[in-house]
Amino acid sequence: MKEGSIMANVKIIFATITGNNEEIADVISESLENKNLTVDVEEISQADAFDLENFDAVVVCPYTYDGGSLPEEGLDFFDDLEEVDLTGKFYAVAGSGDEFYGDDFCVAVDKFDAQLAKSGATKATENIKINFAPDTTEDIDNLDRLAADLSQKLGF
Ligand SMILES: Cc1cc2nc3c(=O)[nH]c(=O)nc-3n(C[C@H](O)[C@H](O)[C@H](O)COP(=O)(O)O)c2cc1C
Repeated sequence: MKEGSIMANVKIIFATITGNNEEIADVISESLENKNLTVDVEEISQADAFDLENFDAVVVCPYTYDGGSLPEEGLDFFDDLEEVDLTGKFYAVAGSGDEFYGDDFCVAVDKFDAQLAKSGATKATENIKINFAPDTTEDIDNLDRLAADLSQKLGF
């Protein structure tokens, strides 16, 4: 932990229809809590982009819909990311899609990455794309690596 610093807090925001991205959010949350970070998990339609100014980092876990579309219930949050100033904070994106969709696989992950970059936040680690639920060892290892990279960037 950085000398004199208080506990870092991380916001995790997920969008889900069938539960896979909530599972991803939960895996990341548990991994970060194991590193003694404070975590707040919220569903995207309830999330306020301006509230992110109260956190040290944000992780977004979106599903991808028709032809590489963003989750519709997350469009307000997505648009507001252009208005917030998250300079000095970190972000990461990890989402679930379906590899069947080929070039459109997990496109929402890359779209959130580009949008979060506009907020001034610094990308903490590579984007993670998961086929359906995070149920392989590789998926869990990747999500643990995201948590490790993020906590290291936060000085923990
Ligand atoms: C109508 C429809 C369109 C979809 N389009 C895409 C797509 O373009 N790219 C992709 O990667 N996944 C696509 N998916 C798959 C979902 O993103 C995938 O099932 C994901 O795991 C859902 O996450 P959730 O369980 O959190 O809702 C689509 C699913 C449906 C039902």
